[in-house]
Amino acid sequence: MLDRRQFLRGGLAAAAWGLAGGWPLSGLAKPGPRVRELTLIAGVTPVDLGGGGSFLAWTYNGRLPGPEIRLRQGDILRVRLKNHLPEPTTVHWHGLAVPNLMDGVAGLTQKPVPPGGEFLYEFPVTQAGTYFYHSHRGLQLDRGLYGPLIVEPAAAEVRPPDREYVLMLEDWARVDGGGPNSPRRRPPGMMMGGMMGGMGRGGGGDEPPLEPVYDAFAVNGRAYPHGPALAVRQGERVRLRLINASAVSIYDLSLAGHPLVITHTDGRPVRPQTTQVLRLAPGERYDVEFLADNPGRWLLASNNLGWGENGLRVEVAYQGVRRAEPVPPLFRPGLSYATVWDLRAARPQPPRAGRGRGREYRQVLSGGMHSAWWTINGQVWPRADYLFAPIDTRVRLKYLNRSMMPHPMHLHGHSFRVVNPALEPAWWVTKDTLLVERGGGAAVDFLADNPGFWFHHCHNLYHMEAGMAGAVEVSA
Ligand code: C2O
Ligand code: CU
Repeated sequence: MLDRRQFLRGGLAAAAWGLAGGWPLSGLAKPGPRVRELTLIAGVTPVDLGGGGSFLAWTYNGRLPGPEIRLRQGDILRVRLKNHLPEPTTVHWHGLAVPNLMDGVAGLTQKPVPPGGEFLYEFPVTQAGTYFYHSHRGLQLDRGLYGPLIVEPAAAEVRPPDREYVLMLEDWARVDGGGPNSPRRRPPGMMMGGMMGGMGRGGGGDEPPLEPVYDAFAVNGRAYPHGPALAVRQGERVRLRLINASAVSIYDLSLAGHPLVITHTDGRPVRPQTTQVLRLAPGERYDVEFLADNPGRWLLASNNLGWGENGLRVEVAYQGVRRAEPVPPLFRPGLSYATVWDLRAARPQPPRAGRGRGREYRQVLSGGMHSAWWTINGQVWPRADYLFAPIDTRVRLKYLNRSMMPHPMHLHGHSFRVVNPALEPAWWVTKDTLLVERGGGAAVDFLADNPGFWFHHCHNLYHMEAGMAGAVEVSA
């Protein structure tokens, strides 16, 4: 229904939306759910992050990131995917509990859409919050196939912010085809910011592809200083919806001159928590707010050693302030640094009782040492046992990280509660992606109430491709 030119003209996204059915034209009709339609065309297009010349990325509707999908809780989303790529593809709705056949996991929930083919995704959107959509076939996400998906709550917010920005955080290798085609690779076992990898295995033969060494970090498809600054006015309360769409990179973010107040993680509200540094792993989302009470030009930046001038940065600029240079945050010891363990639910959550006794599965995460494979319980997906969860029973996944890398573990089709021994269960936060730190343990609980085969994996795309994945079967 809408063509790609409309999308290419920026700023018309809202006008390009179709509304179908459900809207009462008079007060007599009963308002049904609103159906929101759009077409996503996956294709190969030149992109320019700014500064470094252009290269070919894989995009939705020729844009990087793909068009923002903004819905209201209760809407029905109907997306026609058209594949103009040279490979089969899918779309996954990260963090949304959709019916299994709409989940978009190539080879698990659907046959990938062949070049020239189409697929219709349609499902009700029941959760409010910050989400995103991305290809779920191989390493395609790391070529640019992602976009934000924002769901506004059905009931008006009690304290809506004065201004809001959606920021997608992206790691880039500026070569045609992006990260998966990068000639520079990180040897297994190397830490972030460590030695630059030499020419590595690019995935030939039996070995999985190694992580690329990224040379650019972008916010909404632009690398600093080439993107627009985030304009604010003195006195405003500003919300940032932060989405880490990076294939590999974990960011420790800080905004110079302003503490951040965490209000949501993975779309779910938490009790407001102030922090100066916020860690964001691939697949995670955080909504934060700050009070614009310190006029100037400031940088929101990531403290990733070794990235130097190429690090992830974006400017926050007060209107009417003149100043030569924006001020970067200083990552000095003593900054406050809230993690998920400092968060609690915004309101106590009544326990959702399951049938029967529930199950517990131990998930030992390892790999990366002298090997390019990453494993759960020693198994390399797809040669892995499925975890079985009878419908409506409770499941606990107990992670034990025996590797030298952190792993953002993500579960499809459900959200989980993060088991926090320091809190009563009613206060455990709800998420769908949890960073399991090096050498750490963590556990999550969920009610297996969505039937189907659900992917469960590390959201470091190269770990996922190298085996760190499994599936949960929810059935009667
Ligand atoms: Cu963001 Cu398995 O997905
Ligand atoms: Cu991992």
